[in-house]
Amino acid sequence: MTSRPRPAALAAAVVLAAASLTACADQSGSAPAAANTVETATSEVEVFTWWASGSEKVGLDALVDELGARHPHVRFVDAAVAGGAGSAAKDLLQSRLQANDPPDTFQVHAGAELWDYVEAGQIEDVAHLYVQLGLRDAFPDELVERLLVDGKIYSIPANIHRANVVWANPGVLAAAGLDPAAAYPTVEDWLAAFEVVEAAGRTPLAVATTWTQVHLLETILLAELGPEAYVGLWDGTTEWASAEVTAALETFEKVMSFTNNDRDGLDWPDATQRVMDGEAAFTVMGDWALAAFTEAGKVEGTDFTYFPVPGTHGVFDFLADSFTLPVGAPNPEGARAWLEVVGSVEGQVEFNLAKGSIPARVDIDPTLFSPYQQTAISSFTEDTIVPSLAHGAATRIAWLNAISDATSRFTTGGSDLETFQADLVAAAG
Ligand code: GAL
Repeated sequence: MTSRPRPAALAAAVVLAAASLTACADQSGSAPAAANTVETATSEVEVFTWWASGSEKVGLDALVDELGARHPHVRFVDAAVAGGAGSAAKDLLQSRLQANDPPDTFQVHAGAELWDYVEAGQIEDVAHLYVQLGLRDAFPDELVERLLVDGKIYSIPANIHRANVVWANPGVLAAAGLDPAAAYPTVEDWLAAFEVVEAAGRTPLAVATTWTQVHLLETILLAELGPEAYVGLWDGTTEWASAEVTAALETFEKVMSFTNNDRDGLDWPDATQRVMDGEAAFTVMGDWALAAFTEAGKVEGTDFTYFPVPGTHGVFDFLADSFTLPVGAPNPEGARAWLEVVGSVEGQVEFNLAKGSIPARVDIDPTLFSPYQQTAISSFTEDTIVPSLAHGAATRIAWLNAISDATSRFTTGGSDLETFQADLVAAAG
């Protein structure tokens, strides 16, 4: 089941956005582009993502539907590669780019991940599209600054996701004798609840393969170090070899000891499913998990609850999906049509309703979205924003890969805590 906006509400959102765009056009001197461009009957667009199945594909389909409505002559070619967080897609994409076989557009995270493609000369500056499509003032500064490299802008964002969210099964918690409405102030409080859940015969915290463990690690580092020192890990002002990092890694080790042993064979939808099915009490996952719960017909507040990872209240662990124009894209016209849809009000409303994220655009009516998404919209404006590690905002791909290898070695028993920390120090270069 996918919730779609009521047509009247969508129309209202479009009117609101159109008014704001007119205001933007007045300021920037450029009018928003008309919905349609001239495409030949044979236009197509090959779109490379990792939204290959389940609720993520439903999100992609929402964009494809909008493409069909605006650009009926552009044929969508799906180049999605399965594997959460692009765990398989990113390597394959790099092989294609190096072989001069780019798709027409590809998914990339806002932030440091984008720099790799820019430095390798693999993507075009799309500033002209921001002007043509009236997007100059459509996105918040915190996001735009993560799309800029040397004053040029390299992608168009589709959404904003929050990574530091716990998803919980209130039935499992109540059956274990815990208060299902509790939000734990610290990781230590949360660990005490894990013991109760474990004693009741359920998995306290469901995790999956390496990238989800890195995702968990980033939220524990954030909780234990605080936002400033967490950001310092990425800009060099926090020492990876410090005692505070050792303490945070010890906490991570404790948290991991309450997770399912079969984790390495699973991806995030499987871990989320365990919470839905009542096999596990909690999972830590970005808010694409909301889409999985919703797709399965689960109801917020009754079938599942959510709260910021303990110790991270008031912090928004940020990531955003965006789309590029690769150098040498075979169908730049098709790519332009796709990018227009991604940046449009209608595209962002439909996509984000299906995806669990919030619109990147600032001119869309929040009341169109679910209660969870409305909390995310307020948090993004009120909270301290920090960049996600597992989802490309904090580091380049090579650094993330080195952290992922170190994490996997540690969680599969191939290294002890001291070696883990030494590996992380080495990864930071
Ligand atoms: C993230 C991506 C999200 C979602 C998630 C799980 O990296 O930004 O949109 O797809 O991976 O696959």
